[in-house]
Parts: sequence; C-alpha cells; structure tokens
Amino acid sequence: MTMNSEEFSITQATLSDLNQLRDLDRICFEKDQWPLLELVSVLILPGIVRLKVEIDGTMAGFIGGDYHKSEGIGWITTIGVRPEYRRRGIARALMVACEQIMNIPSIRLSVRRSNLEAQKLYADLGYKFFEVWNAYYSDGEDALIMEKINLKND
Ligand SMILES: CC(C)(COP(=O)(O)OP(=O)(O)OC[C@H]1O[C@@H](n2cnc3c(N)ncnc32)[C@H](O)[C@@H]1OP(=O)(O)O)[C@@H](O)C(=O)NCCC(=O)NCCS
Repeated sequence: MTMNSEEFSITQATLSDLNQLRDLDRICFEKDQWPLLELVSVLILPGIVRLKVEIDGTMAGFIGGDYHKSEGIGWITTIGVRPEYRRRGIARALMVACEQIMNIPSIRLSVRRSNLEAQKLYADLGYKFFEVWNAYYSDGEDALIMEKINLKND
C-alpha cells in the first residue's frame, strides 16, 4: 500500500528497516527505547500494522499498531517522527493510515502524562481520555490511555 501526499508517501516497513527503526526509536524515545526483540517483532509478526515514511532514504517516521479483529480493540504501540521532519503532518498521516488499516471499533494508545504535544495530536484526531495507568513507565510516570471510537467500521 502506498499513500502519497505532496511531500511524502507511506509504505509498509519490513525487516530490512530494522537499523533505521532502531535509530528512530533511539532518537524519539530517550526514556522508552524498545529492546531489539520488540523492534524485530513489530517488523515481522502477523496482525501488526507497520508503516513508515521514508524521505531521501531516511526513515522519517514510523507507526506500529497491534489489533485483533475478534476483540474489537486495536492499540497504537509506537509512533515517532525524526525531529527534523516534525510539524509537517507526518504523524497525523501515519495515524490516519493505521486507523484505516485496522478498521476496528476502538483504537487505544498510551502516552506519558507529560507528553502534551502527542496528546494534542491524538485529541485533534478524535482520541479522548479513557483511563490512567499509574506509574506505568520505568521512571514512575503515569500513562494516560486515550481511545478513539470508530462508529463507521464495517
Ligand atoms: C508526537 C510526534 C509523533 C508528532 O509528530 P509530527 O509529525 O510532528 O506531528 P504532525 O506534524 O502530524 O502534527 C499533527 C498535529 O499534532 C499536534 N502537534 C504535533 N507536535 C506538536 C508540538 N510539538 N506542539 C504542539 N502540538 C503538536 C498539532 O496539533 C499538529 O498539528 P499542526 O502542526 O497543524 O498544529 C513527534 O513529535 C515525535 O515523534 N515525538 C517523540 C516521540 C513521541 O512522543 N511519540 C508519541 C509517544 S505516545
């Protein structure tokens, strides 16, 4: 699948993107880097959405989504955009593409309580506060769980 906007296109990531994904993860998530096994898993396991935006041979952004149609709930497990490519709508486009592929009644995600930029992105896209997971992150910060109810899914 390829989706084009004026500046970038969204394509499926594969295992050959592992090094680029590792770099992106390191740059975007100083405090919450994924272990190598999780990075490999998001690139190879079935039932996972893995979309990237590549600009000039560099992975500018990535989104991972985990969903099980039978449960009716999908989770955005990671989204990151390299600092030099932010505020161009890449994260928004990745979220919309991921939601379209999941096509599921409820989509949820976790976000640090202090991450107001990401919360703004999600709120703009229709995600609402769902619940708090106290001290979820390794440094003790709470996770806010946000949810988007998709009334139009098949
Ligand atoms: C959060 C993140 C993914 C946003 O990526 P992005 O490509 O810059 O986001 P977009 O350009 O699609 O922004 C869409 C909207 O989100 C909001 N937003 C995004 N970044 C913002 C910021 N720094 N400050 C305020 N609002 C912001 C705005 O409403 C923005 O719309 P606008 O640019 O028209 O005002 C990116 O900053 C990032 O990778 N951060 C580090 C990793 C992270 O926190 N991931 C989320 C973990 S839960």
